[in-house]
Formats: sequence, structure tokens, C-alpha cells
Amino acid sequence: MLQADAFGPGKLYAAPGNPGIARHAELVALDATDHAATIGFCDAHSVGLVVIGPEAPLVDGLADSLRGAGVAVFGPSKAAAQLEGSKGFTKDLCERAGIPTAGYARVRNETDALAALRRFGAPVVVKADGLAAGKGVTVAMTMGEAEEAVREIFSGRFGEAGAEAVIEEFMEGEEASFFALTDGASILAFASAQDHKRVGEGDTGPNTGGMGAYSPARVLTPTLEGEVMTHIIAPTVRAMAEEGTPYSGVLFAGLMLTAQGPKLIEYNARFGDPETQVMLARLESDLGELLLACAGNRLATMEPPRFSAQTALTVVMAANGYPGTPDKGGLIEGVDAAEATGAQVFHAGTARDASGALVANGGRVLNVTGRGDSVTAAQGAAYAGVDALAAPSLFCRRDIGWREVAREAE
Ligand code: AMP
Ligand code: GLY
Repeated sequence: MLQADAFGPGKLYAAPGNPGIARHAELVALDATDHAATIGFCDAHSVGLVVIGPEAPLVDGLADSLRGAGVAVFGPSKAAAQLEGSKGFTKDLCERAGIPTAGYARVRNETDALAALRRFGAPVVVKADGLAAGKGVTVAMTMGEAEEAVREIFSGRFGEAGAEAVIEEFMEGEEASFFALTDGASILAFASAQDHKRVGEGDTGPNTGGMGAYSPARVLTPTLEGEVMTHIIAPTVRAMAEEGTPYSGVLFAGLMLTAQGPKLIEYNARFGDPETQVMLARLESDLGELLLACAGNRLATMEPPRFSAQTALTVVMAANGYPGTPDKGGLIEGVDAAEATGAQVFHAGTARDASGALVANGGRVLNVTGRGDSVTAAQGAAYAGVDALAAPSLFCRRDIGWREVAREAE
């Protein structure tokens, strides 16, 4: 939560926050599912802007409750957050608006799902419709894997999120992420990034929330970025407005750069993790002003955000065991030493133990971010920071940025 200078003493609250943001914000133990308590806190502290970070409270309608109580919010309404909350909703919207994406079928039971699989053939992609904490997607190389994924979804593994599924045509290409700010009418391109989703080096092993990222994504050339704005982002914002559910906030488009041009893989209704760590490391404009302009429906009056031409690259330090059950409580030392190298250390799953020591408290624990004039230089800066840490319960990939580093070596 952000209370911008324009609205008062310039105080920042974070709920729940962690020891990293505690250097900048006052931590508050707010239950975001308790809308009345959240509104009460905002009233009591004259909060000028609430930035809703994760998808769950957006899909739960926290933005609507806050706006209804007169609190300025950055983030979409419950209806608009369906762009992340329901994969089927987004696919139908793409079809109505002519937005390039993979062919698909929405299915509500195993029989229909298996029939759709036979129509598509392998490879094929199977997705639980709703929010499944990043675990609801199977890219199946064989029919057997696809059938297994279908059975898993309809066996109830994902609860409500798996009451429905989407079967999708498999798309080939390189992935990139693109972010745009919108107040529902105006749109400003924000930035691009690429992440590494697999836990293992060489992009192997199980999927994670992201083991590292860099920005900008050079594969998303200015020409391709223009195509994404024209054929994907703008028609989405227009269709949402025309259908009475204007989308306000940041649109995070997961893209596949196919031989036929960029196609939408999925939308998220929020900033990405760890994409945000690298985009904000390059941002030169005032983020608070941009978010306030979105919340206040005056994005049209804003200059486009300015970014450093440098590359930022972040390496995720995850707790041993991640993406399975992560070890918690491991001591983390050397954060100051890491920052003394020039790297920036963002906290994710960290906590203080009873003695005040910094410890691991989640799957992805730290993001060590470096900057440089090339991806290779940014990578070197990030790993210099990583190497200054002393945290034996954490691990990282040593090859974040490898695609670009290989291209730069050509
Ligand atoms: P999603 O949660 O929809 O972004 O999917 C997670 C990951 O699955 C994506 O980042 C892609 O790597 C992959 N994926 C999703 N949909 C497709 C598709 N239609 N074709 C190929 N890969 C896909
Ligand atoms: N890194 C992908 C996400 O934030 O969903």
C-alpha cells in the first residue's frame, strides 16, 4: 500500500510486507480478505492510494470494495481481473476481439476434455481455468500426459479453479513478457522482460514462479512491441471497456513470439515477480505518479514512462526444496556485502527470527539484481552480489540470461 506524497506525509505502509520493505514502509498485519478492515485502515490513516500487488485479492474484488468506499486504488475490479482469474474468459475475449492467441476449447468435464484432446492432438496444452498458484498448466508432449493432466484437473486437485479447463493448441516460439499501464481508456506501454520459469539450469526441471529475469527483452523489438500494442493490448482494453468491465491497472501479457507474429499466452492482472524487480530497476519516472494517474483516470495526461537504456538482470535465491516444500528458517547473511558490490537485493520470502536475524521464510527468498550496459554485464553484476551472500539454505540458477548472453557472444 502506498500513500503518495501528493496526499499527505509521504508515508508508506506494506501489508504484510517483509524485512526488505520494512526499510521503507511501516508493516501492517492486514487481512486482505477482510475488506471492511482494509477500508477501516485506509480511512484511519488517510491512505491516498492502495496498490494491490497479488492476484488473489484482485480476483476477490478488494479493488471494488475500496473504490466503493472512496479509496483510490491501483488494480482492476473483480470483473476485470477475470483476465487473470479465468483462462476461458480471456480466450473468449480474444476470440471476440480478434486477438492473436492459441486455438482453444473450454471444457467442463473429463469426457469433453478428452474429446477436445483428440481434436487437437499432441503436443497440446491443458490448463485449469482458475487461479492455481502457477501449477494449473501442463504442456503435454504426448497424449498420455495430456490425459493425465485432464484427469488431475477434474479429480478436484485444483478445487474450484479446476471446475473448468481450457485445452489449447501448442504454440512454438520464444516467450517474452510485456507490461502496459491503463486506466481503462488510455494506455501507456511500460516495459518488457523475459524470465526463466524452470527450476534447473538450461531451463530444465519443474516450473516455478520464475528463477530470474531480465529487462528489456531484446527479442521484443520496437516493431514487435508496436504489434503487441496494436493487436493485443489495445483491443483488450477496448473490448473490456465496451463490455462494461473497464480494466484499470497493469496488464501483464505473456507472449509467444511465433513465426506468425506475437500471440498472447495469458494475461496477469498485476506486476510480475521477478519481472518487476528488473523493470523497476530501470524505471526513471516516478512510479507513484503513474499509478496514481491510473487510479484517477488521468493516464492521458501523463508522459510515457522513461527507462534506463541499461539492462537489469535478477537472480532468484530460492530455499532448498523449492518448488516442492521449501526449507524454512535458514540463516541469511551477507545482504549488506551483496549490496556493497552494487547489486540490489530485493526480499521475497524473508522474515526475522526471535533474535532479529534474517531467515528464509518461503520458496523464493531473495532477488539479487544487477545492472549493466549488456545482459552479460548485468549478469556479472547480479552474480557478484549472489557470491557475496552467505546463505547455505538457498540456491540459485547460475545461467540466468543465457539466451541473451549467447547472442551477445555471437
Ligand atoms: P500460463 O500460466 O498460461 O502462462 O502457462 C505457463 C507456461 O506454459 C507458459 O509460460 C508457457 O511456457 C507454457 N504455455 C502456456 N500455453 C501455451 C501454449 N498454448 N503453447 C505453448 N506453451 C504454452
Ligand atoms: N513471473 C510470473 C508471474 O509473476 O506470474
